Amino acid sequence: MSANVQIRSLTASDIRGRKGAKPVVCLTAYTTPMAKLVDAHCDLALVGDSLGMVLHGLPSTLGVTMEMMILHGQAVMRGLSRALCVIDMPFGSYEESPEQAFRNASRLLRETGAAAVKLEGGVSMADTVAFLTARGVPVMGHVGLTPQAVNTLGGYKVQGRDADGDRVLADTVAVAEAGAFAVVLEKVPQGLARRITEAVAVPTVGIGAGPDCDGQILVVDDMLGLFADFRPKFVKRYANLAGDADQAIASYAAEVRARTFPAAEHSFADSVK
Ligand code: KIV
Repeated sequence: MSANVQIRSLTASDIRGRKGAKPVVCLTAYTTPMAKLVDAHCDLALVGDSLGMVLHGLPSTLGVTMEMMILHGQAVMRGLSRALCVIDMPFGSYEESPEQAFRNASRLLRETGAAAVKLEGGVSMADTVAFLTARGVPVMGHVGLTPQAVNTLGGYKVQGRDADGDRVLADTVAVAEAGAFAVVLEKVPQGLARRITEAVAVPTVGIGAGPDCDGQILVVDDMLGLFADFRPKFVKRYANLAGDADQAIASYAAEVRARTFPAAEHSFADSVK
């Protein structure tokens, strides 16, 4: 590609326009190097609040702060040129009122350069989604399993089985009609995800929601196999980076102990000839 070819970033409207068309490919990213890798292949990079658990070792996403989201959002933006950057609103930053949500959403966009936010919740958050979109903040919804509600949901269980399906459908319809440009469906049965996808006019993006959504998202560290002991059913492992890293670090440790690293090619001569 010639140096003066400008790459245009995808917008929330571009993603909205993909309903029923080419699948929307999404992954999380929390750092600049990972954002560059994701940008080369994906349409949307999510700075997910999962970063609290994945990068910072927190027991849930509840301890994630605005400052953490801003720091990682800025890092991700440095690595993107095409993908839409969506940044999660952390727990406690939007639930109180639409005004609180606007204050914090506008701060996230202003201080990171991201072009959209994601927030969790359905019917109860519809007014907030409408308030934000009417004021220039594109919003991605997130229904089904909403990890910030782990304490009221009683764990990270599949949502919407049997009669409970209508609740998840109503949540998705509420945020879609309130103006969300796309909605994440997390951990819902495949048949329900299909029914919801057919019912709403905006793209559904599934994680543990089967193949019939308009797009898919995974936590990038999960699909790269960066955690040896975390294997949820809905994650396909495309690499085993934890295993590769373990072997590499073991080899390094053995070579340092045996004094075979660094070798001559990793060392500097006393004078340049
Ligand atoms: O925080 C996150 O990474 C997410 C995805 C799992 C959708 O919300």
